[in-house]
Amino acid sequence: MLVRYTRVTVLLRRTQSLSFLPLQAKLCIWPSLIHNSCILQARHAHTYSDTKDALKTRIRNVKKNISEGAKTDLSAWKIIKWLGTGILFISFDYSFASWYNYHNEKNLIRAFEYGSCPEPEVNQKWLIHRKEIIKKLKRVLKPTPDHSSYHVIVGNYGTGKTTVVRQCARDVRKGVIYVDVPPILDNFVNNLAKAIGFKEYVPITESLMQKILGSGVSDEQPKLSRVLDAFERGALKYKAKNGKPPVLILDNISKLGQKNMNMLEDLQDIAKLYADQSSCIIIFVSSEGTAPRMMMQRSSWSRAEKKPIVIKDLTSKESFNYLHSKLGIEKEVTNQLIQLLGGRIRDLKEYGNMIKGGVTFEEVRKIVFSTINYNFHQARMIKGERNHIIGKVIIQKLVENKKNKKIHFDTFIELVNNEQIANELLQASVFSYNPEDGSVTFQSCATEVFVKENPELKSKEVFT
Ligand SMILES: Nc1ncnc2c1ncn2[C@@H]1O[C@H](COP(=O)(O)OP(=O)(O)OP(=O)(O)O)[C@@H](O)[C@H]1O
Ligand SMILES: [Mg+2]
Repeated sequence: MLVRYTRVTVLLRRTQSLSFLPLQAKLCIWPSLIHNSCILQARHAHTYSDTKDALKTRIRNVKKNISEGAKTDLSAWKIIKWLGTGILFISFDYSFASWYNYHNEKNLIRAFEYGSCPEPEVNQKWLIHRKEIIKKLKRVLKPTPDHSSYHVIVGNYGTGKTTVVRQCARDVRKGVIYVDVPPILDNFVNNLAKAIGFKEYVPITESLMQKILGSGVSDEQPKLSRVLDAFERGALKYKAKNGKPPVLILDNISKLGQKNMNMLEDLQDIAKLYADQSSCIIIFVSSEGTAPRMMMQRSSWSRAEKKPIVIKDLTSKESFNYLHSKLGIEKEVTNQLIQLLGGRIRDLKEYGNMIKGGVTFEEVRKIVFSTINYNFHQARMIKGERNHIIGKVIIQKLVENKKNKKIHFDTFIELVNNEQIANELLQASVFSYNPEDGSVTFQSCATEVFVKENPELKSKEVFT
């Protein structure tokens, strides 16, 4: 710039020395606008107008050069400005992330200390207190320092597992984390994260970099391991402080057994690992026998408490108390309902409320039977369906055992003689596998009544 200015001044002096340059022209020529090269032009100019044109052209060129120079300066300034903003943003981004994650770490510890479990969805007013099962469950929810096995809780659909497990978890609170296991991995990861209060702030810069560099790995896998890492951190801190492992309840694993066996296997392996380290006790809650049966066949079953905790139907007394005292149904209908439904609390609740709403017992009976008929369809056991004959053979074997309507699982397998059909029959809600004694029974009291009252079955013919 200085060089350019000096050259221009020299030029100006020279041009001033030309006698024909008017003052006006001189005034409008700001020295810094003149390029050195216009000297040559001026030297070769013969007329006033030639000189004027030459100067004009040169001035235009000089202006252009200067504006380009200014542009370059401006771009440099812009770059510096952007760099500065970027550095500021990144440092803010990372500081915010570390502040956020620090607070979440506190939430994590709090979740273990005070427990994390939703309320049971039953109003205290209607709740039947299941003393015996609560006593058993609480023993597992309060493990000893060297507790080193995981547990399985089983019970047919609707026996009240979720309710009683949540009730106990809410009572014990300390060190108990409850998670509902949906059949999709992403949702499970989110539920687990929510239960332990795990939130994370990944710096925007980092996630942008990950997107740009694109490692090709699914985003969910790292999230699962991040959540599990957080869980393990929380569990270890809890154990260090309280001298005993925390408990993780995984409810509804039967949904996995049917749709996502790999996930169930992974969870079982994790349960074994934690039990080996005595770092956390996992309790699996299953609504049917297939999932526990699959778990039993794997080597990691070695660390399981071999006797599953069974949650059965309510006793007749409890059922009567529920329908008559709690729901206010008259004695006669209460007895009829109990004969039809046994102590299956889900059904007692649903049909008991129907009766309260004005539906007659006969109508309820029809609805119950049509539901069971649907289950037989699911098992493909209706006349003309694939499993009709074999289903009938099993029913007859069960009915023959007048004492407890049970057959051993091995007998069941022998009779069916086809693994796929055996699974199909057990997964439909007609029969159920009971892991506690390895037996197969009817899935519910209502199923048994349906079978008993079916004339085709009695005459050893097919049922409709
Ligand atoms: N002790 C109880 N007293 C009163 N109502 C109950 C009790 N236990 C369960 N219930 C009611 O019975 C219904 C079924 O209960 P719950 O969901 O706990 O059964 P579940 O065995 O977990 O069912 P699923 O096998 O489908 O998971 C719920 O609507 C619940 O409100
Ligand atoms: Mg449940």
